[in-house]
Amino acid sequence: MSRRRARQWAGHSVEALRRRWGGRPVYAYGRVDSTNAAARELAEAGKPQGTVVVAREQSSGRGRGERAWLSPPGGLYLSMIFRPRGMVVSPLTSVLAALGIVQALDGAFAELRPRLKWPNDIVAAGRKLGGVLPEATSGEAEVRHLVVGVGINVKPIGARAPADVGRRATSLAERLDRRVELVEVADAVVAGLERYLDRPSATADAATLEALDRYDWLKGRRVRVGPEGSWDRTPGLGVGIAPDGALLFRPDRGALRRLSSGSAEVETE
Ligand code: BTN
Repeated sequence: MSRRRARQWAGHSVEALRRRWGGRPVYAYGRVDSTNAAARELAEAGKPQGTVVVAREQSSGRGRGERAWLSPPGGLYLSMIFRPRGMVVSPLTSVLAALGIVQALDGAFAELRPRLKWPNDIVAAGRKLGGVLPEATSGEAEVRHLVVGVGINVKPIGARAPADVGRRATSLAERLDRRVELVEVADAVVAGLERYLDRPSATADAATLEALDRYDWLKGRRVRVGPEGSWDRTPGLGVGIAPDGALLFRPDRGALRRLSSGSAEVETE
């Protein structure tokens, strides 16, 4: 599809954004279908690792499990291209993308206390602040390129949002006492994505495991786990995140389990 590029995003010229983010290619759009879709096309056209795509709003924003991602103006919609040579994209990819962003947001907005909710949600005060959507395109033998898309709620969740979103989501505006510039959020997301995905590895090292442990929202909480989108969920306790990105979960009945896919809901806060 044809997408019209914008010269500015969040009050900054594309050239200024490019300088701000270390000279990497930056593609900005006003309204776009999905920054992940745009980034994928750019990756297919040969754009390098580190290329960033941002948009003011999305008409068909995509979330996990085929869900739509509500994308009105004022939110952060950003995708980055990676070219992970010889690597299989694993559950650790989403976990590390979300971990890097959580750490960067924690550094930028001290009172936010963001946490990672396995596998790829960013939460604050137990509510969803944002999410990560990695989409890989594979060739015959290995991953050709990986697009990692990030959505962060910056403005208050409006009354026009569906009721379940309103109940479960939060935004930077609701959690912080000061006004937040969209570009500050983008700075944190760009740095956070690069922190672990620049040189990806199949297993987390000791320092990364320590960070996972510190920011893990599910650890020690009563959760229900199951396949993405399913209602049939198993109750138990979140135990931690394994070096390969799997969720460690102790069901109420039975032995410790490792979940490589699916999602978890916290029972009560
Ligand atoms: C989730 O379901 O939690 C993941 C949401 C990811 C949304 C972002 S917004 C930018 C990028 N473009 C998309 O269409 N989706 C991702």
